[in-house]
Amino acid sequence: MKMELISQQLSALAVDLLAIAAVDDQTSKDKDAKPLPVLLTTDAAVQSAAAAVLASGEFKAGANETLLLHSPAGLAAKRLLIVGLGKRAKATPHAVRAAAGVAVRFCKPRTLRNLAFALPEGLDATTSARAAAEGALLADFDPDTYRSDRKDQGLHACTLVAAAHHLAAAQPGFEEGIIFAEAQNFARLQVNEPPNVLTPTVLGQRAAQMAQAAGLKWDVYSSEKLHELQMGAFWSVAKGSEEPPALIVLTYEPQGYDPATYSGPVLGLVGKGITFDTGGISIKPADGMEKMKYDMAGAAAMLGAMHAIARLKPRVKVICVVCSAENMPDGKAYKPGDIAISMPNGENPGKSIEIINTDAEGRLVLADGLTYARQLGCTHLIDAATLTGACVVALGMVNAGAFCNDDPTFRQFEAAMETTGEKFWRLPLGEEYFDLIRSDIADIKNTGGRWGGAVTAAEFLKVFVADTPWIHLDIAGMAWIEDSRPSIAKGPSGVAVRTIAEWVRTFNV
Ligand code: BES
Ligand code: MN
Ligand code: ZN
Repeated sequence: MKMELISQQLSALAVDLLAIAAVDDQTSKDKDAKPLPVLLTTDAAVQSAAAAVLASGEFKAGANETLLLHSPAGLAAKRLLIVGLGKRAKATPHAVRAAAGVAVRFCKPRTLRNLAFALPEGLDATTSARAAAEGALLADFDPDTYRSDRKDQGLHACTLVAAAHHLAAAQPGFEEGIIFAEAQNFARLQVNEPPNVLTPTVLGQRAAQMAQAAGLKWDVYSSEKLHELQMGAFWSVAKGSEEPPALIVLTYEPQGYDPATYSGPVLGLVGKGITFDTGGISIKPADGMEKMKYDMAGAAAMLGAMHAIARLKPRVKVICVVCSAENMPDGKAYKPGDIAISMPNGENPGKSIEIINTDAEGRLVLADGLTYARQLGCTHLIDAATLTGACVVALGMVNAGAFCNDDPTFRQFEAAMETTGEKFWRLPLGEEYFDLIRSDIADIKNTGGRWGGAVTAAEFLKVFVADTPWIHLDIAGMAWIEDSRPSIAKGPSGVAVRTIAEWVRTFNV
C-alpha cells in the first residue's frame, strides 16, 4: 500500500473512498439531547454532501462508528465514509489512529483500491498525521499469509489529506508514523509465521537481514557461543530441541559514536524468542498448544523496535539481545529437579536454579540474556516476553503487565505510552514475592507456586538485573488478538514495538 501525504481540496479527490472524521459535539447537559455529530473539516462541499444524513440523527459519531454515502453530491470521490471519533473530548490522536484503521479495514473486503483520509481539522497536525499513518498501515496487515484462496484485498494507495496550512507540520508526523507502523508490522509478520518455518535459526537470519538493510551491526550465535558464555539457563531450555538456539545481538550506534568518548546511556533491549513452547517435559495440554508459536513475540517486539530505532536515529546507543530456542520434550530435554547454572557475570559466578517446571522456560532464557546485556555494557534494561498465563489472568487482554525497579525510568516509559496509546499496567515487585522462589537446594527455583505468578516471574528476572534500572513487560495476553476489531485484524498484534522505540527516544540527549 502506497502511503502519501498531500494537501488538496477534498471535493476534487477522485478516489474510491474518501474518509472523514466526525465527533459527537453534544455540549448540552441534557442527557436526552440528541448527539450532535460534527465533521472535522472546513470543506464546504463535504459538509453539504453530509448535511442531510447528519441532521437525521441516524449517525452518532461514536468511536469507530461508520456511515457510508455512495456517489456523494458535489464530490469527485465515489464514496464518502464518515468515521466517528466519539465525544469531542476523546478525539485524541489515539482516536485518529483507530479511525484511519477503520477506513482501511472498511475498504479491504470491498476491494476498494484508493482511499483518501482527511486529517481531522482542529487537532494537532503532527501527532494526528503520525497517528493516521500508523493506523492505516497497521490496519493493512492481515494474517492469512498461507491461505491458498487468499483474495487480493490490498489497497493500492492511502492518501492522507492535510489542510494547506497544516501540510508542513503534518509531514514529520507522517514520516514517523510510517516508521513506527512498518516496524510493528515487521514484528507481526515474524510472530505470524508457523513454528516449522520460523525456527530460532530462521529468526536469526531474518534479524540479520533486517539489521543489514537498516544499517545496524549484528551478530547471530548458536550453541557454541552459549557454551563459551556459560549460559547454562538458556542452554537447559535449548538442549531439548533438534533445532539449535539462536543468540541474536543487534547494535545501534548513534551518529558520530566513539566508544572512547561516549558517556551516554546504553539501552539493552532483551527479548524472549521461544519459537514454540510445548512446555517441555512439563508438557502443556494439547488444547490451544498451536498458539504457542507466538511465544517469540517479545523477541519480535525488540527486533521491530530496533528496526524503528535504526530509522529514527536517536542520539543514544542501543543493544538488542534476543534469546531464541524451542522448548521441547526430548531424551536430552531438561527435567524438573535439574539444576541449571546461569551465566556468570564478571567476578560473580552464575546463580544455581532448581527447575520445578520446564514450562517456566522464558525466565531461564531471559536470565542469561539480561546478564549478557549487562556484560555488553547496558546501563538500562528493558525486556519483553510472553512470560506468564498469570499475567493474562490478572490483566486480561486489555493491558500488558509492566514491572520496574526504578521510578524515574518508569516515568519515562509512561510518557512513551501516552504517545503511542499502548496500554501497560504497572504491577508490584517485593521481597515477599521473592521469598516464593527461594529453593531448598539452590539459589532460586524457576516457579513460585500458584499465586502471583506474573510477579514471581518478574522477581526471578530481577535477580539477573541487580541494580540496573530495568523494565519488564509481560505481553502474554496482548501479543495475540483473538478477534478482529474494526481497526485491526486478529492475530499477531505487534504490541510494545512502538512504545519501546518511543521509550528509547526519551533518552535522546
Ligand atoms: N509461554 C508461556 C506463557 C503464556 C501463556 C504465553 C499464555 C501466552 C499465553 C510460558 O512459558 C509459560 O508456560 N508459563 C507458565 C509458567 C508456570 C509454569 C510457572 C504459565 O504461565 O503457566
Ligand atoms: Mn512455557
Ligand atoms: Zn513460554
